Amino acid sequence: MTASSKIASYQSYRGVPSLAGLATMTEATRPGLGIEACVTRLKRFHYAFRRLHEIFTAWITAEPIYEIKTAFSLHAYLCSEHVLALRTRVGEMREPPLGLEVVPDPALELLFNEIFAAPTTGERLVGLYEKALPALDAALARHMADTNPLTDAPSVRVCRFARLELADMIDFGVRSLACLVDDEARRAMEPWSRLLDDCLAVSGGVDGSAPARPAGQAIAPLHSATPYVYDPVPRRDERFQDLYNQGVNPEAFLYDPAFDPRSKTLMMLFKRLREIDVPEMMASIIHETKGKPWNYYRDMSRQLWDEARHAMMGEVGFAALGIDWKVARITHNWSLRLNTECTPIERHAVLYFIEQGLMAKTGKRYEWEVGVQSGDPLIATIQDFDWADEVLHASLGREWYIPEFGDRKQAIDYGDQCWSKILSNWTTVYDQGLTRHENWWPEIYQQACATWGIAADPQVLAYRETYETQRADLKAVSGSG
Ligand SMILES: [Fe+2]
Ligand SMILES: [Fe+2]
Repeated sequence: MTASSKIASYQSYRGVPSLAGLATMTEATRPGLGIEACVTRLKRFHYAFRRLHEIFTAWITAEPIYEIKTAFSLHAYLCSEHVLALRTRVGEMREPPLGLEVVPDPALELLFNEIFAAPTTGERLVGLYEKALPALDAALARHMADTNPLTDAPSVRVCRFARLELADMIDFGVRSLACLVDDEARRAMEPWSRLLDDCLAVSGGVDGSAPARPAGQAIAPLHSATPYVYDPVPRRDERFQDLYNQGVNPEAFLYDPAFDPRSKTLMMLFKRLREIDVPEMMASIIHETKGKPWNYYRDMSRQLWDEARHAMMGEVGFAALGIDWKVARITHNWSLRLNTECTPIERHAVLYFIEQGLMAKTGKRYEWEVGVQSGDPLIATIQDFDWADEVLHASLGREWYIPEFGDRKQAIDYGDQCWSKILSNWTTVYDQGLTRHENWWPEIYQQACATWGIAADPQVLAYRETYETQRADLKAVSGSG
């Protein structure tokens, strides 16, 4: 009997799976990779996820297509979680988590620099979802095949979870590309697409395990010849009209006892969808704040993703009522002005100031109560979870923002000042005539009434409070958060 057939005939107790079900005896008796080889690969995976997190995050602001913007918000968050898992795992392998900031391979660096600097949505999607993510997925699959499933079980687990989410991300990207990039656009990006393939070939794949091809002239930068510079101006697709609109004050309606809860839910859905400006703003804080522990980036990315989810909850609420949300002017004032007029810490201060205000009785609890009173169970669910998310955000603010000041009161006052600065001169936008300030409320309300099968209430229909009069009193609830 050969050694391998002896192993194959190994008997566990009455056939119960051996090795905790991780692997067969044959698989576990292959030596696999040593610690050093494992750590080298894990560091490269870490580098890839980190760069992907950076690219997804930074492009949330300037990416115009709403669906891509929200997906980047999710994918940035997922990458931040996998970065954390890999950092933790590397720290367990007789390695202090050092050398994690080192670029493992210049060709790999060029790959990500090129995608980062890609000027169009189509190129970014090709670079991310057809090149970088599949190459990373293949490298993780190789690690699972090459390493010993018992000795390196904790790494295998990290790789498995990462691959599950990579598959979802790639699926989103492939389906989006089918809608957004035609054959002609593909032909135009062929030289660039080849460069990305060359980067992977020269680096020996994301894990560096394939025989690396010598770098030739082919690997000269194209898009990244001019290095990427973050664009703080939020962009939207053509469905978003009248981006500076201040023609309807949803908060004044929401807090007016004269109006009924069901009508108020429409204003809440508007406020939810308008929250798409929070990811656009938070992306700038995350991108421009350097040198924090990774937990900071993970937590901020989680909050950013929650805010994108809140926007989509508004979208879902409108869709459920058969309302065309394009009629409600989803503005970008908040993210535009914070991104272009404030420093990262001032932006964080405004965010914290608004979010801790939402913890008051008039904030998220009130919105949930209106949702319940409206009799619409979907709205109640939306507001229930929105409230829970905001409780989390207030606690993340206590963890990462307050310590910048050391004192809670000082930190809140600073946020108040920063927000007042923006609010005090909001009329500059108004006066510039950049918007028509149309009153979109009657049309949204009438669409809802048609779905509800009721006649419009003349008092509700006649609502025409703008932001010009009542904004100062509603400071804590009128911003996004
Ligand atoms: Fe929030
Ligand atoms: Fe929110």
